[in-house]
Amino acid sequence: MHHAYLGGLLEHTLSLVLLIHKIAGHYDGIDNDLLMTGAVLHDIGKIHEFCYESHIDYSDAGRLLSHIVIGLEMLEKKIVSIKDFPEELALLLKHMIVSHHGARDFGSPEPPKTIEAVMLNYLDELDSKVNGIRNFMASEDPESAWTSYHRVLERFFYKGKVEQ
Ligand SMILES: [Fe+2]
Ligand SMILES: [Fe+2]
Repeated sequence: MHHAYLGGLLEHTLSLVLLIHKIAGHYDGIDNDLLMTGAVLHDIGKIHEFCYESHIDYSDAGRLLSHIVIGLEMLEKKIVSIKDFPEELALLLKHMIVSHHGARDFGSPEPPKTIEAVMLNYLDELDSKVNGIRNFMASEDPESAWTSYHRVLERFFYKGKVEQ
C-alpha cells in the first residue's frame, strides 16, 4: 500500500523517526524513547512478511501471521534475551506494535491505548498516506490535472494545473 519497493521499509522507518524528532517536546509528558522505539520496531515484522528474491510478494509467514504477529515474536525473542527487562516496559513496547494499525478492522487486535501508541498510529498513517498518494500521483498521466480513480482511497486526486 505504501513504500512498496526495496528499501521502502527503511525509508518509511527513517521518515517516522525524523517526524518524531521534529515534534518532540510539542506535547508535555510524552515518553519520547517509547515513541521512538515503537517507530523503529512497529513494522519490523515486514522483514519476514515479504519475500523479494525475484519480485516482492507475501511470504507464507506473512500471509499466515501478518507483520504485527511476526514483529511481536521478534520483539519477544529480544526481550527474553535481555536479563531483567522491565515487565511494564515490555508490555508498553509490545502494545506499540500490536496497536499501530489503529483498529481491529485494519489488523490491530487492540486499538492504541497509550498516548504514545495513539501518536504512532497517526504518524504511521500520515507517512504511509503521503508516500502512497505521492507515488500514485507520479504514476499517473503528467498531462492531466487529476489522477484516475483511486479504488482503495475511493477518490480522484488533484495534482494541480499543468504548466503549458
Ligand atoms: Fe504496519
Ligand atoms: Fe508503518
